[in-house]
Amino acid sequence: MTKVTVVGAGNVGATCADVLAYREIAEEIVLVDIKEGVAEGKALDIWQKAPINVYDSRTVGSTNDYTKTADSDVVVITSGLPRKPGMTRDDLIETNAGIVKSVTEQVVKHSPNAIIIVVSNPLDVMTYQAHITSKLPKTKVMGMAGILDTARYRAFIAEELNISPKEIQAILMGGHGDTMVPLPRYTTVAGIPVTELIEKSKLDAIIERTKFGGGELVKLMGTSAWYAPGSAAAQMVESIVKNQKRVFPVCIKLDGEYGIDDCYLGVPVILGKNGIEKVLELELNKEEKDLLEESRNHVKEVMSVLDKISQK
Ligand code: NAI
Ligand code: 2OP
Repeated sequence: MTKVTVVGAGNVGATCADVLAYREIAEEIVLVDIKEGVAEGKALDIWQKAPINVYDSRTVGSTNDYTKTADSDVVVITSGLPRKPGMTRDDLIETNAGIVKSVTEQVVKHSPNAIIIVVSNPLDVMTYQAHITSKLPKTKVMGMAGILDTARYRAFIAEELNISPKEIQAILMGGHGDTMVPLPRYTTVAGIPVTELIEKSKLDAIIERTKFGGGELVKLMGTSAWYAPGSAAAQMVESIVKNQKRVFPVCIKLDGEYGIDDCYLGVPVILGKNGIEKVLELELNKEEKDLLEESRNHVKEVMSVLDKISQK
């Protein structure tokens, strides 16, 4: 039986659990939250949707009782504060680091063999937090951001061309923030290089909008997005539990890949039953390397803030 736990039954966590259920990605989905009754309520609501949307996956809720999460195959961590207007993802570090640390301790205690997918922000550094706390191999602790950022990029391209988003293939690298690195050289529309279909100034504007895509939604809604983030996390779970070996940009610890050491950044990987099956190393040109380096420097700075917090 495939069992998946989602910690944090807020906007992103509940959406992720809902997608996992209605797409029957796992047989059992456990939703955990610290707020009394919220996870139980949302799990029950998703289960009551099963006869309408016709699925068999069971959803179980728990207020901070991790015994219910025991022996999960995959755990998605979404617990933590979301951004409010005017905040950057990095402003969340102190509160969310404590939450991610305590949640990860509980997760590994009850599911020592689970693969962990972090969603909480600031994403790259929360993945670092979960990795050092869990002491799991780096292939089993990863962060979700690249699928979301790429989806935004692909959606904007589809809109510009008035073409189905299904036809847009793209890859994007770097940290989950304004220094993310979209790669137009590796963006195609049904196999046609995007640069043949969209003029440079328009594509540059799309790239810029993608970089600030999270902020655009925070401004509109007063909190951050959840439909696309929850679906993106569920897509990673699916590739793992079904051993699909799909290629996605995923945040992991780099130890020499792309010439980068000891830093958590999004890179293209193959996702399968063992977690990160392989990192795909692309030949980047000088401009792309410089952008990735800038992204690395930013994430490293935020990692050092976390190091200082944990030494307090
Ligand atoms: P939300 O506020 O709707 O939900 C967060 C939930 O976490 C709340 O229900 C809260 O009670 C729970 N929680 C807090 N401390 C907890 C603990 N110790 N144990 C269990 N549950 C706890 O927030 P939302 O919108 O779901 O966002 C969650 C996180 O995901 C935020 O940090 C947000 O910035 C991040 N995010 C990341 C994205 C990405 O691409 N990586 C995209 C969207 C959001
Ligand atoms: C997003 O990009 C806030 O990280 C979140 O929507």
